[in-house]
Amino acid sequence: MRLLSCIDKILYRRSIRRYKKTPVPEGVKAKILEAGRLAPSAANRQPWHFIICDDAASKEKLSKGRWSGFIKDSAFAIIGVSLPFDDTSRKFGVIDTTIALQNMVLAAEVQGVGTCWVGDYREDEVKKEFGIPAEATVVCIVTFGLPDEKPGSPRKSKPLAQMVHVEKW
Ligand SMILES: Cc1cc2nc3c(=O)[nH]c(=O)nc-3n(C[C@H](O)[C@H](O)[C@H](O)COP(=O)(O)O)c2cc1C
Repeated sequence: MRLLSCIDKILYRRSIRRYKKTPVPEGVKAKILEAGRLAPSAANRQPWHFIICDDAASKEKLSKGRWSGFIKDSAFAIIGVSLPFDDTSRKFGVIDTTIALQNMVLAAEVQGVGTCWVGDYREDEVKKEFGIPAEATVVCIVTFGLPDEKPGSPRKSKPLAQMVHVEKW
């Protein structure tokens, strides 16, 4: 992919909550997972685990919240989990896992797959339902699927001037 169009994909990405029933091709899905596997992490600890939810029953379990009902319509959802095992992964595990998930979001985007982050879940329930170890952190859920919508209204993004500080705050 040419550099410019790759940047455009990042700049114009939107959350997708309506998906076609068509499955995501296995090769495309494999590249999405590979983008997660190869993400940077503090001291290369790679403390992440990814639970792929393909089954209707698994997706249904994640769709119970007010803002998560569309998970059941996605091709698959991934639960990003940080399992720390030393001081470094305890300090950076959530950041590392977030980076891995966002790598997957961007790998999906450039391949024409829509995504949405979903934070509307109860960690204790997700841990119980999916057998996640007690010492782990459920970082977030991301849905994936072929888009069946084009979000129309522009995203309300704050101007750079409100967030960029030059040399000091
Ligand atoms: C950590 C996180 C949690 C989110 N949780 C939800 C959610 O539970 N349900 C939902 O519909 N969207 C969720 N979103 C999507 C945001 O609403 C969306 O990214 C934001 O409104 C900006 O829109 P855009 O992604 O189209 O640019 C979440 C996004 C992030 C980063």
